[in-house]
Amino acid sequence: SPYDVVVVGSVNADLIVRVDRRPAPGETVFGGDLAVHPGGKGANQAVAAARLGARVALLGRVGSDANGEFLRRALSGDGVDLGHLLETPGPSGVALITVGPDGDNSIIVSPAANGRLSEDDVAAAAGLLDRARIVSLQLETPLATVLAAARAAARVVFNLSPPAPVPGELLARCDPLVVNEHEAEFLLGERGAPDRQARALLALGPRSVVVTLGADGAVVAEPGAVTAVPSPRVAPVDTTGAGDAFTGALTWRLSRGDDLVTATEFAVRVGAASVRKPGAQGSYPYLEELKVL
Ligand code: RIB
Ligand code: NA
Repeated sequence: SPYDVVVVGSVNADLIVRVDRRPAPGETVFGGDLAVHPGGKGANQAVAAARLGARVALLGRVGSDANGEFLRRALSGDGVDLGHLLETPGPSGVALITVGPDGDNSIIVSPAANGRLSEDDVAAAAGLLDRARIVSLQLETPLATVLAAARAAARVVFNLSPPAPVPGELLARCDPLVVNEHEAEFLLGERGAPDRQARALLALGPRSVVVTLGADGAVVAEPGAVTAVPSPRVAPVDTTGAGDAFTGALTWRLSRGDDLVTATEFAVRVGAASVRKPGAQGSYPYLEELKVL
């Protein structure tokens, strides 16, 4: 394949406003100036990998609106191949994002065109998927589409985000399954120490597991070994899309033949770099910037 990484997933315009606190139902609060950034978990992963030097193709859908044009331009500017970015008449996906004083975010996603990415689209891209060393998937496109892509892929990196129930078949194809602590809790139905959670997730069937822990790094679980990977300390400005930066970087390193722990050590640095700047894609580091972390 001419690509190191193929991402199948969502493309959103992120509408971001900083707030001191979020409104309760029926309440109005003032926020900062609106910022419109390119986002979407699929597009974010693709850009994260491309900025680090990966050759990346993105299979996804944008709308026929001005946001669609904006999102295409951003992706091609970052070197993502758009030969499989399809267009659906109507609106593009949008994420309404508030960022709080600690850089924490809360997000409402309107899937729009992303919701039309179909099993037929995956079938039409079969040649792309089965020749890629790694296919990276998330859950902002329909589950049936994600499953079809997983079936067509030689190796699957799957980020269960946003969390939703998935069939055992999909979990069994993950190498690795990537989840944060909330997503781990969603799958397992209980909280627990990260190493215990990672081991319990592995027992659900994936070939390997990475639990991301934000400022605390990540835990890697593989058959017979659980490894903690620490993160460099940074002052968070905006954590939006940090998980996507992590997963994009991880996927790229795995496509280059790194073992999972080595790839995770690299990816936590990319995630940490991303939280030092606002927004998602625009905050993702180039390889040179990583040297200072
Ligand atoms: O993971 C962050 C992304 O989730 C944002 O870019 C936003 O589009 C939402 O989908
Ligand atoms: Na950021």
